[in-house]
Amino acid sequence: MPEPQLCDISVPGRRGMRYPAVDVPKSELPAGLVREELPLPEISEVDVVRHFTRLSQLNYAIDLGMYPLGSCTMKYNPKVNEDAARLSGFALIHPLQPVDTVQGALALMYELQEMLKEIGGFPAVSLQPAAGAHGELTGVLIIRAYHRDRGDTQRKKILIPDSAHGTNPATSAMAGMEVVQLPSDARGNIDLEALRSHCDERLAGLMLTNPNTLGLFEENILEITEMVHAAGGLVYGDGANMNALLGIARPGDLGIDVLHYNLHKTFSTPHGGGGPGSGPVGVSELLADFLPAPVVTIVEEGDEEIPPLYGYSTPAKSIGRVKAFYGHFGMFVRAYTYIRMYGPDGLRKVSEHAVLNANYLRVLLKDTYRVPYDRVCMHEFVAEGRWADAPDIHALDVAKRLMDFDFHPPTNYFPLIVPEALMIEPTETESKETLDAFAAAMLRIAEEARNNPDILHSAPHQTPVGRLDEVKAAKELVLCCGVSAPAI
Ligand SMILES: Cc1ncc(COP(=O)(O)O)c(C=O)c1O
Repeated sequence: MPEPQLCDISVPGRRGMRYPAVDVPKSELPAGLVREELPLPEISEVDVVRHFTRLSQLNYAIDLGMYPLGSCTMKYNPKVNEDAARLSGFALIHPLQPVDTVQGALALMYELQEMLKEIGGFPAVSLQPAAGAHGELTGVLIIRAYHRDRGDTQRKKILIPDSAHGTNPATSAMAGMEVVQLPSDARGNIDLEALRSHCDERLAGLMLTNPNTLGLFEENILEITEMVHAAGGLVYGDGANMNALLGIARPGDLGIDVLHYNLHKTFSTPHGGGGPGSGPVGVSELLADFLPAPVVTIVEEGDEEIPPLYGYSTPAKSIGRVKAFYGHFGMFVRAYTYIRMYGPDGLRKVSEHAVLNANYLRVLLKDTYRVPYDRVCMHEFVAEGRWADAPDIHALDVAKRLMDFDFHPPTNYFPLIVPEALMIEPTETESKETLDAFAAAMLRIAEEARNNPDILHSAPHQTPVGRLDEVKAAKELVLCCGVSAPAI
């Protein structure tokens, strides 16, 4: 039975709210602006609350349990971030307000830029990009602008390892670059010989994820960045995996020229379900002039008594605007709060525990689930969800069965170089008890794969909907009354 929608429970005349008395002079609205009919549902407050509470319970959430979705860093979002983002001075301002009325917001953005510079080892940062993929596009446009500015217009080739996230080739292609795939070697690093063979006068840059999407630290990172630079190219760092590096290694010190941060992963701003993210980019000295505008700057220094005056500036050779207004400000407040709550030592511990948790699980599972690149991992690892003696079982079946144990499935079928991939990122916020329970569920599922494969094939068994045609469900999202979701 489809869930009742708001329009199903609407009763004419019911109200859930009252407007305050009008305290300004009444005036007529221009003709044609007001609709004669506005068929909104009419519902009492209690029914609205119950409706949305019930809907929220149909979904899995990080506030309900472990969410080991590799590469996505679904860590717990501390509620203090939400308190800060809801402060009226932050929540109720408008991006078109005069700068002298939003000095507190600008101060926060300026300080966040400074903190990200320090964390990543970059002299300049822009907060504008809306998410990781948008940061990648911004970064590649910056690389393109840099080469064009030097008259190097033939530099169009962007090298991307075969383990990379799909957004890397997509954003490079969107920026009009030519994408060349690099193979990985037997240890999961970039194949150095393949890299060398592409280092020529057409090279614009390399997009590199470190730790990469196998969860492995790129062992030849210094040699790689030197090789690309020697050929006149630049190195783009996909910073989606910064959760392994905080306070331990800075991409800027490793030779990365431009990197995006995923505030919604590393710094715990909520994400999932297509919600707002934030993908600031940090750049080396060489690229600072190309950053998108506007960047928050101090326009008048302060002193011990008077705070500085903040404003915006446009870098000299800016690629222009990449986002309306100034970026996703609510995400800035949350990330700023997270960074300030942890401080430098706390951030380092975040990464240490993320790496420890991933290795703990890897060791518990690796004798049962093959880990093809089996070396000490960073914040995540990739196992295979397949066995020769259970030929009908796939990674998808393991993922679906995990839901019966109240765990969100890991990422599956990515990275593409691992067959039947299960990419597991526990994050630092899970306790040893939770990790043990997750490992126990995984081990039991591996046993069932041989002894009771049907229970995997028919899973999940306790969720509001069973197996969906996922492509169709995403394309034909059901948002209106009386239609059920497309089943397989
Ligand atoms: C390695 C990697 N790069 C880039 C992205 C893109 O980030 P976003 O989802 O914020 O666009 C992701 C997202 O999962 C990722 O895991």
